This record gives sequence, structure tokens and C-alpha cells, in this order.
Amino acid sequence: MRSRVPVAVLGATGTVGQKFVRLLADHPWFELTGVAASDQSAGKPYAEAVRWREATRLPDAVAAMTVARCAPPFAAPASIVFSALDAEVAQDIEQSFARAGALVVTNTRIHRMEPDVPLMIPEINADHLALVAGQRSRRGWRGAILANPNCSTAGLVLALAPLQRAFGVERLFVATMQAVSGAGYPGVPSLDILGNVIPFIGGEEEKMARETCKILGALDRSGVTPAPIAMSVHANRVAVVDGHFEVVSVGLGRRATPDEAVAALREFRGPERVRSLPSSPVNPVEVDPRPDRPQSRLDLERGGGMTVTVGRVRPCPVLDLRFALLSHNTIRGAAGAAVQIGELLVAEGYVSD
Ligand SMILES: NC(=O)c1ccc[n+]([C@@H]2O[C@H](COP(=O)([O-])OP(=O)(O)OC[C@H]3O[C@@H](n4cnc5c(N)ncnc54)[C@H](OP(=O)(O)O)[C@@H]3O)[C@@H](O)[C@H]2O)c1
Repeated sequence: MRSRVPVAVLGATGTVGQKFVRLLADHPWFELTGVAASDQSAGKPYAEAVRWREATRLPDAVAAMTVARCAPPFAAPASIVFSALDAEVAQDIEQSFARAGALVVTNTRIHRMEPDVPLMIPEINADHLALVAGQRSRRGWRGAILANPNCSTAGLVLALAPLQRAFGVERLFVATMQAVSGAGYPGVPSLDILGNVIPFIGGEEEKMARETCKILGALDRSGVTPAPIAMSVHANRVAVVDGHFEVVSVGLGRRATPDEAVAALREFRGPERVRSLPSSPVNPVEVDPRPDRPQSRLDLERGGGMTVTVGRVRPCPVLDLRFALLSHNTIRGAAGAAVQIGELLVAEGYVSD
């Protein structure tokens, strides 16, 4: 058996960074060898620098690690670097690690829409990994940058991909009800969000539209051609801790009944090489037939937080079909998604021994 692959986390003290630490603590393929954050955390033991918000115990081995500055090289080598940095500081830092030879898997928005950066949900577009070769030759670096989508995009695209494959998706309306953890820590002030709904999340609606079309786009030798889907997106922040809830109406290329759509959603699986990754859930999408599901408190942890739950699939009097979905914003929408991409890199031979 090969030894575990050394990995590091940038922005390890934040909301997503802590999720990375939790998911990597007992990972069968990865060994967490480095944690890094801002200059105000660097030099401190991780346990002192972090305000640990996970419901599991902070792993002893990580608690004792000294937080590094976000600059290569680390004291311990890392083949894969997971980034949970603030977007404002991510660009130069992530590029410096790619230049130094690391495979950088980023949660930030900064590189997602660059034409040579794979924006990935492995069950849907593992083939987009092929963009890495062009990225390396164009930018002249040994490493690479890969991205997972925005947290609200991840759940939406997983529900759309089976419908796109079976019937085609031409247009859609989506309204989100997004958890406060999506804004990082400490995030939205409690007096602004308790008992309230805020109908604005800066840049979110544009990101959802752009990223959805790129992920569902077709790859050829010239790159990714975005899927031609007309989207009307409404992003809202609600007083829920974790879990992004979305209601969707979709116009299809060919008519489908709710039963046909449910069958397509239930049958959806990634390619075999993705199904066998440690973070891949058995079912990327589950359909719950109960009329009052999914619910944030009851359905969020399905598939270890990597399964998207769809419910209320029914005819839409304006478009063709409508439904609700729930997705874990810091697992499927952030750290879990990036770890799964890291696993795909290992499985596809991008990480040398
Ligand atoms: N929360 C979500 O659901 C979610 C989902 C998908 C994607 N994302 C994206 O993931 C990234 C992290 O989000 P988050 O919610 O975890 O944010 P967060 O809780 O605010 O954490 C930000 C992290 O960045 C570090 N940092 C800040 N300024 C830095 C600097 N100048 N140099 C180096 N490190 C610096 C912080 O370190 P210190 O603790 O030392 O300040 C902290 O570790 C963002 O780009 C966000 O858009 C978030």
C-alpha cells in the first residue's frame, strides 16, 4: 500500500479551513502536514490560533501544529494544498504554491472562471481535469490550480446534471435560502439575521449563473463551452446555521413527467473512477418523496454531507418542473468537494510518489 499523500490547508483557521482539518484528520489517503493562515495566526500553535467551531474534538496532532504563513515552502512538504483563504488575498498566494509545484485545490472564487482552470464536481465533469495540461504549459508552472464551485452552485448543479443528461436543461429560475455559515466566521451579525431574511448576497447570483454553465459545459480541444442555460437567480440569507436550501423551476429541452425526472435523479452516478473515491457518497443525489422534505435540520448529513437531497418534484405551470433541494454548504459546497477533487488527482496519477 502506498504511503499517505502529504497535504496542507491554507486558511486553516476559518470556517471552511476547520472543516478541512476535520475531514483530513482520519483520511485514508491524505496526511495533513501543514496548516497556514494570516500573519496574526502564524507562529502560534493551531489550538491557540483557531476558534474551533466543529462539533468534533480538535485532533491532538493538529492542535499542536504551528500555524505557518501562507507562503511556500512549508517546513513539511505538501503535494496537494487545499485553499480556504479569503478571496481578497487568495490570488497571489495560490499562484505561488502552483508555481512551487503544488496541486492547489481552491474554494475561493478567484480562479474559478479562468478558461484553463478546471471548475469541478467530479461526478459531473471529471473530464475537465484535462485542462490542467494546457494550464501548465501556458503558465509554465509544475503545479496546477483546480477549483470547486461556490457553495450554492454545488447543490444546484448536482440536481441539474441528471436532468440535463436525460432531457436537456434550457432555462431555470432558482431562489436560495442560504445558511449563515456560508459567510464565514463570525459572518453576519446576529442582530441582522435572527428573525430575518436578507435578500442580497453580494456577487452570489452572478457566480451561480456563470459557474453552473461552466460545470455543465462541454469540453473539447479549445476548452469548455458553457452550457447555454438562461438563469434567473435570487440569493437570500436566512437564519439557519448550516445548509443551503433552494427552490428551482426548470424548463427542459424535452418534456418529462415528475416520475421520469425522479428516476433520472435517483439513477445519477459519477463515472466508476469517481464512485470509488473515499469522499464520494453512494448516491450523489437522493430524492425524498415525503411532502415536507428536505429539511435543513433533518437531511443535511446524508452521504457524510456530500449527498444533495431533492424533494417536492412536481409540474411547474410556468416552466416544466419544479422542486426543492438541500445541500451542505461547507462540505459538498466547500471542504468535502475539494477533498474529493484531491482524491481524484491521486486516482488519476497527478500525484507522484
Ligand atoms: N463558508 C462557506 O460555506 C464557503 C463555501 C464555499 C466557499 N467558501 C470560500 O472559502 C473561503 C474561506 O471561507 P470561510 O467561510 O472559511 O472564511 P473565514 O471563516 O473568514 O476564514 C478565512 C481564512 O483566511 C485566512 N486569512 C485571512 N486573511 C489572510 C491573509 N491576509 N493571509 C493569509 N490568510 C488569511 C484567515 O486566517 P486568520 O484566522 O489568521 O485570520 C482564515 O483562516 C472564501 O474564499 C469563501 O468565499 C466558503
